[in-house]
Amino acid sequence: MRTLEKTLPVRRLKPGPATNVRHTARPLWEALAFPALALSFALLTAGCTKPSGPPPPVDSPAYYTEVVQPILRENCYRCHGGMNHKGDLRLDSPEAILHGGKRGVDVVPGHPESSLLITLIRHEQKSDPPGPMPPKSKLTEAEIAAVTAWIRAGAKMPAME
Ligand code: HEC
Repeated sequence: MRTLEKTLPVRRLKPGPATNVRHTARPLWEALAFPALALSFALLTAGCTKPSGPPPPVDSPAYYTEVVQPILRENCYRCHGGMNHKGDLRLDSPEAILHGGKRGVDVVPGHPESSLLITLIRHEQKSDPPGPMPPKSKLTEAEIAAVTAWIRAGAKMPAME
């Protein structure tokens, strides 16, 4: 009994197993924190770059989200998206695209030649309203070809899956 009473307080002052755990735990946490930071940075920058590799099949909803939607977002949303719906037309959701504008359906899946949207982005209707779209610039030939091919292939969008 005597020896126990004497040795216990002394042992508590010495660095015990609990203190050792704390010392080894810190480097482990640091070792985990750095890759975690690096990974989230890589994910952030990946989100800013365009997806590389060949585009998805033209008759897949992914073609809309990866190729067509960025073209519309860049060139049309400021007048046909959010609070803006010039010509009663919004182009920022699949439902709105298929709903069309005040002249009716502007995108006829399978038929670019009957789609007013194609006539307008090709700037074939220069003098008659609603006029060429966008009004003050023109999409590149590659962009026009992509939107045309997408409509010809059925204008597939995620909501239609
Ligand atoms: C600077 C604003 C502006 C931009 C950018 C713009 N539009 Fe328009 N758009 C209009 C206006 C204004 C009308 C309505 C004109 C009218 O009814 O006479 C219209 C009408 C339309 C219509 C006819 C809607 C209907 O049914 O009457 C289509 C289709 C269209 N735009 C497609 C597009 C596409 C596709 C883009 C992008 C490539 C685009 N627009 C970019 C201003 C814009």
